[in-house]
Amino acid sequence: MQVMIETESLTKIYYADGREIHAVDDLYLKVFEGEIFGYLGPNGSGKTTTILMLLGLIQPTSGDGWVGGYNIIRESRKIRGIAGYIPERYSFYYNLSAYRNLEYFAKLNHLSGNEIKERIERSIEIVGLNDWINTPVGAFSRGMKQRLALANILIRNPKIIFLDEPTVGLDPKSKADFRELIKRLNREFNLTIFLSSHMLHEVKELCHRIGFLNKGKLIAVDTVESFMGKMGYKIILEVTDLDDKLIDALNEIGDISKIKIDDGRLIIYSGRDIRLEISRKVAEMNRYILTLTLEPPTLEEIFFNIYGE
Ligand SMILES: Nc1ncnc2c1ncn2[C@@H]1O[C@H](COP(=O)(O)OP(=O)(O)O)[C@@H](O)[C@H]1O
Ligand SMILES: [Mg+2]
Repeated sequence: MQVMIETESLTKIYYADGREIHAVDDLYLKVFEGEIFGYLGPNGSGKTTTILMLLGLIQPTSGDGWVGGYNIIRESRKIRGIAGYIPERYSFYYNLSAYRNLEYFAKLNHLSGNEIKERIERSIEIVGLNDWINTPVGAFSRGMKQRLALANILIRNPKIIFLDEPTVGLDPKSKADFRELIKRLNREFNLTIFLSSHMLHEVKELCHRIGFLNKGKLIAVDTVESFMGKMGYKIILEVTDLDDKLIDALNEIGDISKIKIDDGRLIIYSGRDIRLEISRKVAEMNRYILTLTLEPPTLEEIFFNIYGE
């Protein structure tokens, strides 16, 4: 497999109010060509800072890195030639149509001539906005703007795209559509995708591998299956007569990684959905279920359960 992104002890320290902020701390990262890589971490953990360094938009304090074989310090212009980037916040001209917006940005990027029209139309087609090509962007939903932002970077046929928190602010249907689109781009064009998020359950179906970032440090990198196998399900159980006997009985069910008592309820973390086994055990013990629900665990919970403090 070809390496698409590699970093060596990449570090960024900001100085603010006489304080040092280690935004990215001694990062060793490898992302392969054709991969969808999820870069997960809570707010302030250094995701955006990492992306900006990889694109050569800010300078590292120390360490080094390569994207598509180009060095992030000396060859960042070449990186920006092969990489597309959708920042957390971006804007379009609301009174201009989808087409005119993309044309405007294409011209800013020194694309010109006859190919421009063809490329814009093709990109808009790929993201499924052909019916709105002449509609002013002001009438677009958040999900449509996100797809237009993708079309905007596809015009230049990137090898890799960086998406910074792409699902924030989208409704559930747009999130699902967006994930499908990303999967398709990855499959059809062998596009490498580097995607940051603070919501594990939103990207788990999308990413091949995930890296967990905490306070600028990469604390684990693994496949999604492996993370989910440890901690992917959180089940909340409320029963009559909660006691140690019941907890011991529940622990006989395989794949439970942790049971916590929280305000009279049990919170059970497991590698799979074991609600059926739980309800059987509770019945066997002659207790009654008051609540039995499945929730996605938060990123913080997974961090905490796998890696302790
Ligand atoms: N330009 C800046 N000056 C000072 N501190 C910054 C700057 N940009 C980011 N930081 C700090 O660096 C840390 C990482 O920020 P960021 O990379 O934006 O995290 P994330 O994208 O994961 O939310 C945070 O503590 C943030 O406050
Ligand atoms: Mg960020």
